[in-house]
Amino acid sequence: MQLLINGTTHEVDAAPDMPLLWAIRDLVGLTGTKFGCGVGLCGACTVHLDGTPIRSCSLPVSAAAGKAITTIEGLATAGADHAVQQAWTQLNVPQCGYCQAGQLMSAAALLARNPRPTDVDIDAAMAGNLCRCGTYVRIRQAIKLAADIQNGSAS
Ligand code: FES
Ligand code: FES
Repeated sequence: MQLLINGTTHEVDAAPDMPLLWAIRDLVGLTGTKFGCGVGLCGACTVHLDGTPIRSCSLPVSAAAGKAITTIEGLATAGADHAVQQAWTQLNVPQCGYCQAGQLMSAAALLARNPRPTDVDIDAAMAGNLCRCGTYVRIRQAIKLAADIQNGSAS
């Protein structure tokens, strides 16, 4: 089947029920998206499907065919880091880093639908992304900074 990932079409030889995450990592070779729990509970495998954040470990690859898939490798556009990537870098958000691709994808999707999220909005949107290193406070700060960067009001 054909998968449209980060604007490029990839032909993959996959069983229809293969998890999308397997196809992204093992067949296409984009390894920025991580395997954590494998059962839809941790958010490490978050990618966008037509702009919506989804758990790629729990979606059959056949359900993603014909849709636009964005992974962490496709978050920056035209050589410029996404606002969340800029904010994450400025605030040194990651610790071990394992969960952070998923965190960034969920944060980017939040800001796309809500450019001025409140703490409550952030907590609701990010609740499914776990971080064993406990970077939650910095993640919340970085989402606010990213909102300012995106809205042109960062100092
Ligand atoms: S690896 Fe997909 S939600 Fe944990
Ligand atoms: S930075 Fe280590 S799990 Fe989140």
